[in-house]
This record gives sequence, structure tokens and C-alpha cells, in this order.
Amino acid sequence: MPLNVSLRQLRVFEAVARRSSYTRAAEELHLSQPAVSMQVRQLEDQVGLPLFERVGKGICLTEAGREIYHYSRSINRALLEMEDVVESLKGVSRGRLSVAVVSTVNYFAPRLLAEFHRRYPGIHLTLDVTNHDQIVRQLEINQVDMVLMGTPPGDVDVAAEPFMANPLVVIAPPDHPLVGERKIPLERLASEVFVMREPGSGTRQSLERFLAETGTLIRHGLQMTRNEAIKQAVRSGLGISVVSLHSVELELETGRLVILDVQGFPLPMDWYLVYRRGRRLSPAAKAFHEFVLAEARGLAGPLRGG
Ligand code: PGA
Repeated sequence: MPLNVSLRQLRVFEAVARRSSYTRAAEELHLSQPAVSMQVRQLEDQVGLPLFERVGKGICLTEAGREIYHYSRSINRALLEMEDVVESLKGVSRGRLSVAVVSTVNYFAPRLLAEFHRRYPGIHLTLDVTNHDQIVRQLEINQVDMVLMGTPPGDVDVAAEPFMANPLVVIAPPDHPLVGERKIPLERLASEVFVMREPGSGTRQSLERFLAETGTLIRHGLQMTRNEAIKQAVRSGLGISVVSLHSVELELETGRLVILDVQGFPLPMDWYLVYRRGRRLSPAAKAFHEFVLAEARGLAGPLRGG
């Protein structure tokens, strides 16, 4: 009897196996956990063997599970390739493009995407604005064509091309006692309270790496998931913070925030254009790739960061 398995069952099974968890797979696929369990159970019924076994609190693949995982990955890859080929047949004037950017990029992304849209009005573009960790997840599951982010993930096989400098600066309210001091030693930061981004933020991860490398200790104050909230908190005197220069253009111009001249800062980061290596790029994705590398610096705005 031929195996009567559906692509949906294989896709759900692949996610559970890759994430080693029904719950995480359900989150990723935007399904309920019972729906995920049911798909896996139906696949097991078809195969006639269990595909997962419980180990302590977790699950792991059985021998049959490992075999099916191997094939379900190739089938998923082939499906994605098929979608890309179909897109290429439509040519660059049509097609879909999904772009994800970290929230900080969103300070210049609209200008960039507006110009891209003017040049290629037939490309249907969707933009997702989220944080570093969420984007890494989207790259892992091959859910997005192109990404603009600060720190490319080390553990996902991606191509990452820097396209513009992204200096991270220390910001303070204009009446802060350290304003105007030159080359403030890092140790002075120890007595300051920092308004922090959430742990999934790329900005926060870059700051923490720098602090660990230089052995600098800081005091964490409030934690906020939005740059806008961070800027308000700093303006209200709740602490100082480290943000991308691109996110504070307006506040610096109007003097509502100032940059502190701290040793080691600005942290010399870059913005990267990132996509899954080996993913065949559709004409729309290729057009976006060329466009960002050629035009982003000019379109990003007055500061540009070098
Ligand atoms: P985030 O992005 O802090 O908004 O996550 C910055 C980055 O990717 O470095």
C-alpha cells in the first residue's frame, strides 16, 4: 500500500522535529498544539510506526522519525525551490517579496522601500518589523526573502552583506552631568543606570558583548522593547542608554537628547542585508538585493553613519 501522507503533515512533522517541541512548532506555524499533535499522529498512523519518543520532559526522534525527517526536509526544500522557480517565470516586474527588518532599521526602511516600490511597482512587497531574535527564527524556517539587520546570526547558514555603518551611541538627556565631558572612561558608566532593550534585541546583544569584552559593569534600570520608549525614558531622566545613531536623528537635531563621548563608543557596527544561503533568489529578491547594496546609503537620511 502506498504511503498516503500529506504535505501538511510533513511540514508540521518537520517543524516539531527541528524544534524538538510540539509547543514551539505550534507557535512557529501559528497552529494550536492539539492541531500539531493531530497532524503528527496521522502521519504516524500512515507510517505505522511511532516517530517521536519521550525522553524526560522532552521528545526525540525514533529511528523511523529520523528517516522521515531526512525526507521531509528535502521535500520542503524542493517545494521552496519550486515556488522560487514559479516566481522567476513571472519575471521581475511581478512577484512577491517578503522583507523583515529589525525595529531600528525601520527608521530608514520606509524611505528605502518607498523608492524600491516606485521603481518596481508590480512587486508585491510585505514588510515585517520585529527584533533580532524573531528575525533569526524567520531565517531558520526560510520564511522571509530578505532581511535588514545589525548582527547576522552565527548559527543559521546565511549570506550577509554589509551595506551601511550602524554606529551605536550612548544617549543621555541634555541636562545629564556627563554632557560635555570628553573621553569619559568606561568605569564611569558603572555608576549610571541603563535603560535596556529586551534580551532578544540585537542592540542589546552588541552592547553586552562589548561590556563583557571590556569587563565593564553597568546597572540595569528599566527594560523596554521599543526604541521609542527607550528614548522617552532617557529624556525623562530614568537613565542613559545605548541605541543606534539612526534611531535618534530627530532628537539630536532638536537637542532633546545628546550623545555622551564615552571611550570605546560609538560601537562600530554595520547594517547587513541577509538571506538564506542556497536559497534561489527570485527576480524580485535579486532586484531588492541590488537596490539595497547600491542605494541604501544615499537613501538612509542625513546621518547615514559614514
Ligand atoms: P534590534 O536590532 O536591537 O531592534 O533587535 C538591531 C540589530 O539587529 O542589531
